[in-house]
Amino acid sequence: MISGSPYPFSSFNPVGEAKVIALAPLSQADAVLTIAIVGLGPVGICAAVSLLDMLADLKKSKGLEHRVVAVDPLESRRDKMQRILSKINIKESTVMVTDIPSSKKIVDEWTGSIGCNAVLEVVGNNSALTLSYELVRPYGVISSVGVHQEPPLPFTGRDMYNKNVSFDFGRCPVRAMLPIASRILLKRQDVFGGVGEEASLIEKVVGLDDAAESYALFDKGKTGKVLFNPWL
Ligand SMILES: *[C@@H]1O[C@H](CO)[C@@H](O)[C@H](O)[C@H]1NC(C)=O
Ligand SMILES: *[C@@H]1O[C@H](CO)[C@@H](O)[C@H](O)[C@H]1NC(C)=O
Repeated sequence: MISGSPYPFSSFNPVGEAKVIALAPLSQADAVLTIAIVGLGPVGICAAVSLLDMLADLKKSKGLEHRVVAVDPLESRRDKMQRILSKINIKESTVMVTDIPSSKKIVDEWTGSIGCNAVLEVVGNNSALTLSYELVRPYGVISSVGVHQEPPLPFTGRDMYNKNVSFDFGRCPVRAMLPIASRILLKRQDVFGGVGEEASLIEKVVGLDDAAESYALFDKGKTGKVLFNPWL
């Protein structure tokens, strides 16, 4: 390869060979972090609450603006997310809760059809990965915590390569995350503390006799997080 500079500076580097490209000045829109959360089940809600907390800190400390689109096809899950957002005082202009078709329109509008800097996939279904790939911008990151089973992934390495997308996959390092998670758990007791209230993550606590029915309801998307108490 004859490029005049050594790899990786030969491909892209804001201060290297690509100076010519970097001549276009960065606009205010370039400094806005746009993130999508695909899937608003209990884990998606925890992810959203934690992410918004981190982004609020970044805004305070570094002045970094952000916009978040939270996506789920189920209306009941979107309603729950919306109630939690009002409870924690998040403005409509920075966070939109939406269904799948509108999510693409919103991201197009917000980013001039470029896409999100990062997408969190919290479903574990190939359709969610496909949507994540559509929503992410070139050089963006898809972070997938959904547990994908046997079906092959809906994209190939070549798709990732062609869009220059990073794909992050696998189990969460629990010990490393626990201190951060406990802090947010304590801080947001208005969401994580109650049971069965409008904006609480946990919908009900039932005995083990109701376990089978609860799993069936959860599977159909008819209930949110249910806790079992064997002594009930
Ligand atoms: C994945 O999502 C599609 C549509 O969004 C749905 O038809 C399908 O049943 C889902 N699969 C699983 C395993 O949940
Ligand atoms: C991916 O990166 C290469 C190298 O910088 C570039 O030529 C290509 O246009 C990029 N692809 C997209 C979809 O931005």
